[in-house]
Amino acid sequence: MERKTVQITPQQIAEQRAYCDAIKRYWQAQKRTPLAFVDTYGCQQNEADSEHLRGMLQDCGYAICDTEEGADVIVINTCAIREHAEQRVYGNVGALVHTKRRHEGQKIFLCGCMMGQPHAAERIKKSYRHVDGVFNPHQLWRFPELLSTVLTTGKRVFAVEDSAGVICEGLPTVRQNTLKAWVSIMYGCNNFCSYCIVPYVRGRERSRAPQDVIAEVRGLIAAGYKDITLLGQNVNSYGKDLPEPMDFSDLLAQLAELPGEFLLRFMTSHPRDAGKKLFDTMAKYPKIAKQLHLPFQSGSDRILKAMNRHYDSAHYRELIAYARQVMPELILTSDVIVGFPGETEADFSETLKLIADVRYDALFTFIFSPRKGTPAAEMDDPTPKAEKNARFDRLVALQDGISAELHHDYIGKTVRVLIDGKDGELLTSRTEGGRLVRIKGDEALIGTFADVIITDNTTWSLVGKLKKEGEHG
Ligand code: SAH
Ligand code: SF4
Ligand code: F3S
Repeated sequence: MERKTVQITPQQIAEQRAYCDAIKRYWQAQKRTPLAFVDTYGCQQNEADSEHLRGMLQDCGYAICDTEEGADVIVINTCAIREHAEQRVYGNVGALVHTKRRHEGQKIFLCGCMMGQPHAAERIKKSYRHVDGVFNPHQLWRFPELLSTVLTTGKRVFAVEDSAGVICEGLPTVRQNTLKAWVSIMYGCNNFCSYCIVPYVRGRERSRAPQDVIAEVRGLIAAGYKDITLLGQNVNSYGKDLPEPMDFSDLLAQLAELPGEFLLRFMTSHPRDAGKKLFDTMAKYPKIAKQLHLPFQSGSDRILKAMNRHYDSAHYRELIAYARQVMPELILTSDVIVGFPGETEADFSETLKLIADVRYDALFTFIFSPRKGTPAAEMDDPTPKAEKNARFDRLVALQDGISAELHHDYIGKTVRVLIDGKDGELLTSRTEGGRLVRIKGDEALIGTFADVIITDNTTWSLVGKLKKEGEHG
């Protein structure tokens, strides 16, 4: 059976709006403003989805609060990427039994990637009976309808039908931040890296129409957003499924040409699909942050093959060399998995070598976690847990040393930052690469870009001073 992306129609969205109106009237009749709490686990994609959930809740008349205690509805947006993420969800959902007892009528929903796994949804249904509703990522747009059913019938709802994936334009959004915004440009993933659950729970790769993405970004710029991150599991395969195929670099260029002062970022890139055109585009436009998150996962070609990553470490190194050639100031980050099934000490040394050679600004490090239904979960895995932990510690120590050195190297340099807030007496700001810089200055500067000379560093942040006209860093 061929499975196709489902485009949610304006009619379907209108039906959901009608549910919102009905819920709003339900609360008006009770003469109070209900409270809603949305708790998010996992990646930026989930953060972006939670902003839509908050948007829908607001349209239903809820005020958004920041704790479970006293909330009339709790939505937990879950992540399934590693077992640890799931354990935290089960633990926290379990504890909600008591919260719910203290608040008559409280409704609890679970959604997100974990609920895209039938076995997890089933466990919630059977063993967590205080949960009122469950929906997987494909059903998110139907949340008002599900909430309405629970409120009006008191029955539990389970919307977990599988799908190749949906695209839904026009969902309301309540953004968490006034300067930084997420924009999903595509959903799902087709890569099936052998360790990864994402393609199973988020469906097939599908791209939003470029005009919809451009309109959203235009709107954000007009609303004063300065730091816009384009999201997708593999942004470099953006557009392949569109009626008129278009590639990611072209979309990026069109966005970077929009008027206004803002910075564009994107994640995540896959080394198989990222290439010269992307790096040339990044280099060409000042509005594209010189920051690249390019996960390598392992330095061993044997392991990369077993991971189904479709590149080898030589190709990866060539990509980095080219990116740095056209963007010498590039800030580079990556993901790495330690202890993939069958990883030997020799494989692991290749990973350490790659890290030492590339010298990343920061690394996101993970110990392999078997995910039910993925090929890697069935692979022979003779390495003891203690050995994996020891490797993990060695890797982290290596990276910490590199990060500290790179951090220290900032002193005396001039960097462009976006001033984004206040912390005590000082203003906080972020470099293009996302590093925290504290500076003295007037609060009125929040929301503006500035050049800053770095004067000092602590372990986690930099200290700087605003550069005056004509001053040299
Ligand atoms: N789409 C992105 C990453 C999404 S998941 C990409 O391909 O780069 C974020 C990171 O979690 C991955 O890069 C990987 O390093 C890690 N990860 C995914 N599945 C994992 C698993 N089963 N065990 C350990 N780490 C995992
Ligand atoms: Fe997972 Fe690989 Fe897809 Fe990233 S590219 S989401 S690691 S399957
Ligand atoms: Fe987790 Fe789903 Fe993101 S599994 S990492 S929330 S795509």
